[in-house]
Amino acid sequence: MKSVLDFKARKGKARISMSTAYTHWEARFLAASPVDCVLVGDSVATVVDGEPTTFAATPEIMVRHTAAVARGLGGSKLLITDFPFLAARKGIAPAVECAAALMRAGAHAVKIEGVDGHEDVFRHLVQSGVPVIGHLGLTPQSVNAFGGYKVQGKTDAAAADLLRQARSIEAAGAFGLVLECVPSEVARTITEALSIPVIGIGAGQHTDGQVLVFHDLLGLNPGFNTKFVRQFADGNKTVGDGLAAFAAAVADGSFPSKKESY
Ligand code: KIV
Repeated sequence: MKSVLDFKARKGKARISMSTAYTHWEARFLAASPVDCVLVGDSVATVVDGEPTTFAATPEIMVRHTAAVARGLGGSKLLITDFPFLAARKGIAPAVECAAALMRAGAHAVKIEGVDGHEDVFRHLVQSGVPVIGHLGLTPQSVNAFGGYKVQGKTDAAAADLLRQARSIEAAGAFGLVLECVPSEVARTITEALSIPVIGIGAGQHTDGQVLVFHDLLGLNPGFNTKFVRQFADGNKTVGDGLAAFAAAVADGSFPSKKESY
Protein backbone atom coordinates (compact mmCIF):
# COMPACT_ATOMS: atom_id res chain seq x y z
CA MET A 1 0.00 0.00 0.00
CA LYS A 2 1.65 3.21 -1.17
CA SER A 3 -0.91 5.97 -0.89
CA VAL A 4 -3.92 7.20 1.04
CA LEU A 5 -6.02 6.30 -2.02
CA ASP A 6 -4.98 2.64 -1.64
CA PHE A 7 -5.79 2.96 2.08
CA LYS A 8 -9.30 4.35 1.47
CA ALA A 9 -10.03 1.78 -1.23
CA ARG A 10 -9.65 -1.00 1.34
CA LYS A 11 -12.82 0.02 3.25
CA GLY A 12 -15.15 -2.97 3.31
CA LYS A 13 -12.80 -4.97 1.05
CA ALA A 14 -9.64 -6.09 2.85
CA ARG A 15 -8.30 -5.42 6.34
CA ILE A 16 -5.33 -3.07 6.77
CA SER A 17 -2.25 -3.91 8.90
CA MET A 18 -0.15 -1.08 10.32
CA SER A 19 2.95 -1.15 12.51
CA THR A 20 4.89 1.62 14.14
CA ALA A 21 8.53 2.20 13.20
CA TYR A 22 10.99 4.65 14.66
CA THR A 23 14.31 3.78 13.04
CA HIS A 24 15.81 2.97 9.67
CA TRP A 25 16.42 -0.57 10.95
CA GLU A 26 12.73 -1.22 11.82
CA ALA A 27 11.66 0.37 8.53
CA ARG A 28 13.85 -2.05 6.58
CA PHE A 29 12.18 -5.01 8.30
CA LEU A 30 8.77 -3.52 7.49
CA ALA A 31 9.72 -2.75 3.88
CA ALA A 32 10.51 -6.44 3.40
CA SER A 33 7.25 -7.53 5.10
CA PRO A 34 3.62 -7.71 3.90
CA VAL A 35 2.52 -5.20 6.59
CA ASP A 36 0.51 -2.58 4.69
CA CYS A 37 1.56 0.73 6.17
CA VAL A 38 3.79 2.35 8.77
CA LEU A 39 3.27 4.88 11.54
CA VAL A 40 6.06 6.92 13.10
CA GLY A 41 4.21 7.17 16.39
CA ASP A 42 4.93 9.69 19.10
CA SER A 43 5.21 6.48 21.16
CA VAL A 44 8.85 6.91 20.09
CA ALA A 45 9.12 8.86 23.36
CA THR A 46 8.01 5.91 25.50
CA VAL A 47 9.26 2.97 23.44
CA VAL A 48 12.64 4.29 22.27
CA ASP A 49 13.51 6.94 24.85
CA GLY A 50 11.95 5.31 27.93
CA GLU A 51 9.84 8.36 28.79
CA PRO A 52 6.73 7.81 30.95
CA THR A 53 4.42 9.53 28.42
CA THR A 54 4.44 10.67 24.78
CA PHE A 55 4.73 14.34 25.83
CA ALA A 56 8.48 14.36 25.25
CA ALA A 57 8.07 13.86 21.49
CA THR A 58 8.63 17.21 19.78
CA PRO A 59 8.23 18.14 16.09
CA GLU A 60 12.06 17.99 15.78
CA ILE A 61 12.16 14.45 17.22
CA MET A 62 9.31 13.34 14.93
CA VAL A 63 11.09 14.83 11.90
CA ARG A 64 14.32 13.01 12.70
CA HIS A 65 12.60 9.62 13.12
CA THR A 66 10.38 10.19 10.07
CA ALA A 67 13.45 10.81 7.92
CA ALA A 68 15.15 7.65 9.22
CA VAL A 69 12.02 5.54 8.60
CA ALA A 70 11.42 7.06 5.16
CA ARG A 71 15.00 6.14 4.15
CA GLY A 72 14.43 2.59 5.38
CA LEU A 73 11.10 2.21 3.57
CA GLY A 74 12.46 3.64 0.32
CA GLY A 75 8.97 4.63 -0.81
CA SER A 76 7.65 1.08 -0.49
CA LYS A 77 4.79 1.82 1.97
CA LEU A 78 2.38 4.52 3.03
CA LEU A 79 4.15 6.41 5.83
CA ILE A 80 2.12 8.32 8.44
CA THR A 81 3.68 10.45 11.20
CA ASP A 82 2.12 11.59 14.46
CA PHE A 83 1.55 15.23 15.21
CA PRO A 84 3.23 15.41 18.65
CA PHE A 85 1.82 16.76 21.91
CA LEU A 86 -0.14 20.04 21.41
CA ALA A 87 1.15 20.54 17.85
CA ALA A 88 -2.46 20.72 16.58
CA ARG A 89 -3.50 23.14 19.33
CA LYS A 90 -1.37 26.21 18.59
CA GLY A 91 -3.40 27.37 15.63
CA ILE A 92 -3.28 26.85 11.92
CA ALA A 93 0.08 28.46 11.07
CA PRO A 94 2.18 26.40 13.54
CA ALA A 95 0.27 23.26 12.46
CA VAL A 96 1.11 24.00 8.83
CA GLU A 97 4.80 24.42 9.78
CA CYS A 98 4.74 21.10 11.65
CA ALA A 99 3.06 19.30 8.74
CA ALA A 100 5.53 20.85 6.27
CA ALA A 101 8.52 19.64 8.31
CA LEU A 102 7.09 16.12 8.65
CA MET A 103 6.21 15.86 4.95
CA ARG A 104 9.64 17.21 3.91
CA ALA A 105 11.14 14.46 6.08
CA GLY A 106 9.19 11.86 4.10
CA ALA A 107 5.75 11.43 5.72
CA HIS A 108 2.89 10.96 3.25
CA ALA A 109 0.27 11.82 5.86
CA VAL A 110 -0.07 12.97 9.48
CA LYS A 111 -2.07 11.65 12.42
CA ILE A 112 -3.78 14.03 14.84
CA GLU A 113 -5.25 13.09 18.24
CA GLY A 114 -8.70 14.42 19.18
CA VAL A 115 -10.77 16.85 17.13
CA ASP A 116 -12.88 19.12 19.34
CA GLY A 117 -11.49 22.64 19.11
CA HIS A 118 -9.05 21.92 16.27
CA GLU A 119 -11.43 20.90 13.47
CA ASP A 120 -10.07 23.96 11.62
CA VAL A 121 -6.57 22.46 11.67
CA PHE A 122 -7.86 19.19 10.20
CA ARG A 123 -9.71 21.10 7.46
CA HIS A 124 -6.88 23.46 6.65
CA LEU A 125 -4.30 20.68 6.33
CA VAL A 126 -6.60 18.52 4.19
CA GLN A 127 -7.40 21.49 1.94
CA SER A 128 -3.65 22.16 1.70
CA GLY A 129 -3.02 18.69 0.30
CA VAL A 130 -1.84 17.10 3.55
CA PRO A 131 -3.67 13.81 4.16
CA VAL A 132 -4.78 13.55 7.80
CA ILE A 133 -5.87 10.52 9.82
CA GLY A 134 -7.67 11.08 13.12
CA HIS A 135 -7.13 9.31 16.44
CA LEU A 136 -9.84 8.90 19.10
CA GLY A 137 -10.49 6.82 22.21
CA LEU A 138 -7.55 6.45 24.57
CA THR A 139 -5.47 9.18 22.99
CA PRO A 140 -2.20 9.05 24.97
CA GLN A 141 -1.59 12.81 24.71
CA SER A 142 -4.69 13.26 26.93
CA VAL A 143 -3.68 10.67 29.53
CA ASN A 144 -3.82 13.17 32.39
CA ALA A 145 -7.32 14.29 31.44
CA PHE A 146 -8.38 10.61 31.40
CA GLY A 147 -6.81 9.96 34.83
CA GLY A 148 -4.58 7.20 33.40
CA TYR A 149 -4.48 4.72 30.52
CA LYS A 150 -8.13 3.56 30.70
CA VAL A 151 -10.57 2.12 28.19
CA GLN A 152 -12.71 4.95 26.75
CA GLY A 153 -16.32 5.02 25.52
CA LYS A 154 -17.64 2.64 28.19
CA THR A 155 -20.93 4.42 28.91
CA ASP A 156 -23.66 5.07 26.32
CA ALA A 157 -23.01 8.80 26.56
CA ALA A 158 -19.24 8.38 26.11
CA ALA A 159 -19.77 6.02 23.16
CA ALA A 160 -22.19 8.49 21.52
CA ASP A 161 -19.66 11.27 22.01
CA LEU A 162 -16.94 9.19 20.34
CA LEU A 163 -19.25 8.60 17.37
CA ARG A 164 -19.94 12.35 17.17
CA GLN A 165 -16.19 13.11 17.13
CA ALA A 166 -15.54 10.36 14.56
CA ARG A 167 -18.16 11.92 12.27
CA SER A 168 -16.58 15.32 12.76
CA ILE A 169 -13.16 13.91 11.74
CA GLU A 170 -14.67 12.33 8.64
CA ALA A 171 -16.49 15.58 7.79
CA ALA A 172 -13.21 17.50 8.08
CA GLY A 173 -11.80 15.35 5.27
CA ALA A 174 -9.66 12.80 7.12
CA PHE A 175 -8.76 9.68 5.12
CA GLY A 176 -9.01 7.38 8.15
CA LEU A 177 -9.36 7.06 11.89
CA VAL A 178 -7.35 5.25 14.55
CA LEU A 179 -9.53 4.08 17.44
CA GLU A 180 -7.66 3.13 20.60
CA CYS A 181 -8.87 1.13 23.60
CA VAL A 182 -12.63 1.24 23.24
CA PRO A 183 -15.14 -1.60 23.68
CA SER A 184 -15.37 -3.67 20.53
CA GLU A 185 -19.11 -2.96 20.03
CA VAL A 186 -18.40 0.79 20.14
CA ALA A 187 -15.65 0.29 17.55
CA ARG A 188 -18.07 -1.73 15.42
CA THR A 189 -20.70 1.05 15.49
CA ILE A 190 -18.14 3.70 14.54
CA THR A 191 -16.59 1.51 11.82
CA GLU A 192 -20.02 0.88 10.29
CA ALA A 193 -20.99 4.56 10.52
CA LEU A 194 -17.93 5.91 8.69
CA SER A 195 -17.05 5.62 5.01
CA ILE A 196 -13.31 5.93 5.80
CA PRO A 197 -11.25 3.03 7.20
CA VAL A 198 -11.08 2.70 10.97
CA ILE A 199 -7.89 1.15 12.35
CA GLY A 200 -8.15 -0.32 15.82
CA ILE A 201 -5.71 -0.85 18.66
CA GLY A 202 -7.36 -2.46 21.64
CA ALA A 203 -10.67 -1.90 19.82
CA GLY A 204 -11.67 -5.47 18.98
CA GLN A 205 -12.13 -7.32 15.73
CA HIS A 206 -14.75 -5.26 13.87
CA THR A 207 -12.54 -2.41 12.63
CA ASP A 208 -11.14 -2.14 9.10
CA GLY A 209 -7.61 -2.85 10.27
CA GLN A 210 -5.25 -3.11 13.22
CA VAL A 211 -2.18 -1.21 14.36
CA LEU A 212 0.36 -2.35 16.94
CA VAL A 213 3.66 -1.00 18.20
CA PHE A 214 6.57 -2.80 16.45
CA HIS A 215 8.28 -3.77 19.72
CA ASP A 216 5.03 -5.06 21.27
CA LEU A 217 4.01 -7.26 18.34
CA LEU A 218 7.48 -8.81 18.13
CA GLY A 219 7.69 -9.49 21.86
CA LEU A 220 10.58 -7.08 22.33
CA ASN A 221 8.82 -5.33 25.21
CA PRO A 222 8.30 -8.17 27.72
CA GLY A 223 7.15 -5.91 30.57
CA PHE A 224 4.19 -4.68 28.51
CA ASN A 225 1.49 -7.35 28.87
CA THR A 226 -1.57 -5.32 28.00
CA LYS A 227 -4.63 -7.41 27.08
CA PHE A 228 -4.87 -6.11 23.51
CA VAL A 229 -1.29 -6.93 22.49
CA ARG A 230 -0.49 -10.26 20.86
CA GLN A 231 3.21 -11.14 20.66
CA PHE A 232 3.69 -12.63 17.19
CA ALA A 233 7.33 -13.47 17.89
CA ASP A 234 9.48 -14.04 20.96
CA GLY A 235 11.83 -11.18 20.16
CA ASN A 236 12.96 -10.82 23.75
CA LYS A 237 14.19 -14.43 23.82
CA THR A 238 15.80 -14.25 20.36
CA VAL A 239 17.67 -11.05 21.21
CA GLY A 240 18.56 -12.28 24.72
CA ASP A 241 19.87 -15.60 23.36
CA GLY A 242 21.94 -13.80 20.72
CA LEU A 243 23.52 -11.44 23.23
CA ALA A 244 24.27 -14.29 25.65
CA ALA A 245 25.87 -16.33 22.85
CA PHE A 246 28.02 -13.35 21.82
CA ALA A 247 29.21 -12.73 25.39
CA ALA A 248 29.94 -16.44 25.88
CA ALA A 249 31.92 -16.67 22.60
CA VAL A 250 34.00 -13.64 23.57
CA ALA A 251 34.59 -15.07 27.04
CA ASP A 252 35.70 -18.51 25.81
CA GLY A 253 37.77 -17.09 22.94
CA SER A 254 35.76 -18.82 20.17
CA PHE A 255 34.89 -15.44 18.62
CA PRO A 256 36.46 -14.28 16.38
CA SER A 257 37.56 -17.46 14.61
CA LYS A 258 40.28 -17.54 11.95
CA LYS A 259 37.58 -17.17 9.26
CA GLU A 260 36.35 -13.99 10.97
CA SER A 261 39.85 -12.46 11.17
CA TYR A 262 42.04 -10.59 8.62
O1 KIV B 1 2.11 6.56 18.82
C1 KIV B 1 1.62 5.46 18.59
O2 KIV B 1 2.31 4.43 18.64
C2 KIV B 1 0.20 5.38 18.25
C3 KIV B 1 -0.55 4.08 18.23
C4 KIV B 1 -1.90 4.21 17.68
C5 KIV B 1 0.11 2.88 17.74
O3 KIV B 1 -0.38 6.39 18.03
